[in-house]
Amino acid sequence: MGDYLVRAGGRPLSRRLLKSLGIQTPQHLERREGPWLAHPLEGCTVVLAGAGPLWAPIRSVIEEAGGTVLDPDRAALETWPKALVFVGTELEQVAELEGLHTFFHHWIRQIQRSGRIVVVGRSRADTPEAAACAQALDGFVRSVAKEVGRKGTTANRITVVPGAEDRLDGPLRWLLSPRSAYVSGQTLALSALLDRSGPPSWERPLEGRTALVTGAARGIGAATALRLGEEGAQVLCVDRPGEDDLLDEVSRAIGGSALACDVTDSNTPERLAEHLADGVHVVVHNAGITRDRTLGKMDPERWKLTLDVNLAAVDRITERLLQGPLQDGGRLVALSSTVGICGNFGQTNYAASKAGLIGWVRARSGPLAERGITVNAIAPGFIETRMTAAIPFFTREGARRLSALFQGGLPQDVAEAITFLASPGADGLSGQVLRVCGGSFMGA
Ligand code: NAI
Repeated sequence: MGDYLVRAGGRPLSRRLLKSLGIQTPQHLERREGPWLAHPLEGCTVVLAGAGPLWAPIRSVIEEAGGTVLDPDRAALETWPKALVFVGTELEQVAELEGLHTFFHHWIRQIQRSGRIVVVGRSRADTPEAAACAQALDGFVRSVAKEVGRKGTTANRITVVPGAEDRLDGPLRWLLSPRSAYVSGQTLALSALLDRSGPPSWERPLEGRTALVTGAARGIGAATALRLGEEGAQVLCVDRPGEDDLLDEVSRAIGGSALACDVTDSNTPERLAEHLADGVHVVVHNAGITRDRTLGKMDPERWKLTLDVNLAAVDRITERLLQGPLQDGGRLVALSSTVGICGNFGQTNYAASKAGLIGWVRARSGPLAERGITVNAIAPGFIETRMTAAIPFFTREGARRLSALFQGGLPQDVAEAITFLASPGADGLSGQVLRVCGGSFMGA
């Protein structure tokens, strides 16, 4: 399992050999292991451009995270920054978009490999021209993501509504750090739907919290349980009966607990509620299956089982947990898929279930905000797991390379995104779909 071109690219001899054959290897992505740090941007130079009232607070966020901020007007042109940030919240006229070109034209050539680009804009505007400028940043960022991806660099956008300015810290820290290595071409839309209860903690942010992860025996679920555990959460790991050995191994590694049950069993919501009677703060609905067939050849069982595991069980379990165990201020994360956004041949059942989850988080976010609970979906692209190892070679190869980063992601990449959304600093995000797809060209 795994991406042989990434492996080959990590060995100088094979890299040179492949290059001589005209085969380019993907950039090895910089990732970070272990728990979050108080100063994740230590050693990073960030060139901060643009203008407006958010410029100074953004500078403070970066400096508090350990980064060194340079003003583009004063920075030596031969500097090699790790990140570029552009504040475009005040753009009113199309002519002002030229500022993007002025800034990035030079600095995009200077940015280090595995670098980070973040553009901050707004999601509400008073005039059609200002709205056009705000939306222009979206097309700009998605295109930049495609241009810089081969160097392992990502480009993302954050939008802010009035009142949500103080929620920039968590998303900025995360997007500028190596934790978001496989997130590119995306927008995090910050809202002030939830009240902020106090400054978020950046080290062991889940200390004292309990988390539930379904499908935790392997793949993305196992990686997520491990990361949540590393950040201090007490994790209940759930998977189907028959996966007990793997499940025990995961839960033992983090001092958590394991429960073998099928998420579709009628008594599962009640069993989970009993196991979580002391309260749960983070729920990750990760268990998922594929049962692929073209529609004309799909038997009703494949349809029913996929919709039940991937969608109906998520709602049933959540309903029960909301009646007691799920604590105010909690976090719900559901695993959707880019297939739920753009569809896929032979996956009508899977795409319907994963698109359904997007509708589900959107519908749940408003009512749950009253209890301070956020609910978001993660839509992974191609991630190297058992599920994708089963895809035929050429389709698999295409899926890997059809991304701006020219490679598949790792379970760890999705786990990092889930951990971020589960953290107190992600309180500006609810009802959203965050793609972890390396800037996949599918459904872009
Ligand atoms: P995986 O197949 O490696 O692991 C899924 C886990 O869920 C397994 O341990 C399995 O036993 C468990 N599970 C399945 N049905 C269950 C049930 N009825 N009750 C309890 N547990 C059950 O899958 P992977 O790749 O780690 O995917 C995790 C999630 O991410 C899934 O929801 C999947 O649809 C989604 N996803 C994965 C992508 C990828 O590229 N790997 C892409 C897009 C979405």
